Amino acid sequence: PIFLPNTIGGYMPGAAGTPGIDNRTGKDNAALVALSKGLVVAEPGARGRTNKDAKGLYTGKAPAAIVDLKAAVRYLRLNDKKMPGSAERIISNGTSAGGAMSSLLAASGNNKDYEPYLSALGAAKTRDDIFAASIYCPITNLENADKAYEWYFDKIYTYERRGMPGMMPSPGGALPTLPPDFKPKLITGSMTASQIELSKELAPTFPAYVNSLNLMFNGKPLTIDANGNGSFKNYLKGFVMTSAQKEINKGMDLSKLTWLKTTEQGKKVTDIDFSAYVKYVKRMKTTPAFDGVDLSNGENDEFGTATIPSQHFTEFSYKNSTVKGTMADEKIIHMMNPMNYLAAANTVPAKYWRIRHGAIDSDTALVIPLLLATKASNCGYKVDFAVPWGQGHGGDYDLDELFDWIEKITK
Ligand code: DHB
Repeated sequence: PIFLPNTIGGYMPGAAGTPGIDNRTGKDNAALVALSKGLVVAEPGARGRTNKDAKGLYTGKAPAAIVDLKAAVRYLRLNDKKMPGSAERIISNGTSAGGAMSSLLAASGNNKDYEPYLSALGAAKTRDDIFAASIYCPITNLENADKAYEWYFDKIYTYERRGMPGMMPSPGGALPTLPPDFKPKLITGSMTASQIELSKELAPTFPAYVNSLNLMFNGKPLTIDANGNGSFKNYLKGFVMTSAQKEINKGMDLSKLTWLKTTEQGKKVTDIDFSAYVKYVKRMKTTPAFDGVDLSNGENDEFGTATIPSQHFTEFSYKNSTVKGTMADEKIIHMMNPMNYLAAANTVPAKYWRIRHGAIDSDTALVIPLLLATKASNCGYKVDFAVPWGQGHGGDYDLDELFDWIEKITK
């Protein structure tokens, strides 16, 4: 197998990676572990939202990052016979915006939408489908992520986030190397009246989106009713319950968590109080979480053009724009969302998917990776989805399990 991690974070440019120490975990990074397991590693760079050419034109706005990763896959395939590893066994890996790109690379194999960009780049004229994808906390499905966030953090109007040195308010880019005793400053606050108004408008629009996907689990439709409840919500709760159960089975005492309902001895999880659970997770972002009405989010920047720094990518924020922002090209918005390609014609999605989203990650709502996992599974692909306990926004924290999975799927 060829392990293909990307180094993209915050939709920023990602440099080509090298095996070594992961400056977030302080441990061997995924590329180094992959080599130790006998895999071949290719860790390509990709353009991102801040890249500019000599004339000052932006060169890395959407869809540049995915085009670059596809070009790397094509290069590996074109030269497959000349290089170690098999290009028919490419397994991508990425976290957050990099997880979004890993998802998109896996979903959109060989789709023609990207062809003009690949041609312009001089990419090899060959296939770009991949075998499998590892995806951590993908900041994806951006044009639906705002309503998902408001449905999920329903009526929670205070926020809390970690302030990291050198990071944008909406975190972006590779994390700086931090001193061992570094404690991120907590930034807390309450949403403004107009943000709360936007939240109340957005939250009730999420159920119709979920229902439009016609997703199924165990032969039953996954839906949300007018009150925001229903089979989809129970399904969602099930993943958090499974995560808690695993922790209890390891001997952890979770009896202090009042939102977790268990049998009397505390040994078996029976339910969660969903609204109390999301209060425990805590909202991190103000409304709208991704398509900022003032165009100030990293995602707005991602949807800029060669000459326009940032744009809207949802009808909602476009209509509510406080800065008369312009709307990104509809086709480019479409091309950045893996949900649009899993069932598309003349497209070859990856066979195997491993998706993780930490149980206390609030950079996007848990429902976003869950919808991706469910759609991929409904489309007939093998999906391993879990919500690791106590885990916030991050990736590559369970490399032993990741490489066990890779061994299993490539045997
Ligand atoms: C990332 C995190 C975010 O909260 C976001 O909105 C976009 C990207 C990241 O860590 O890559």
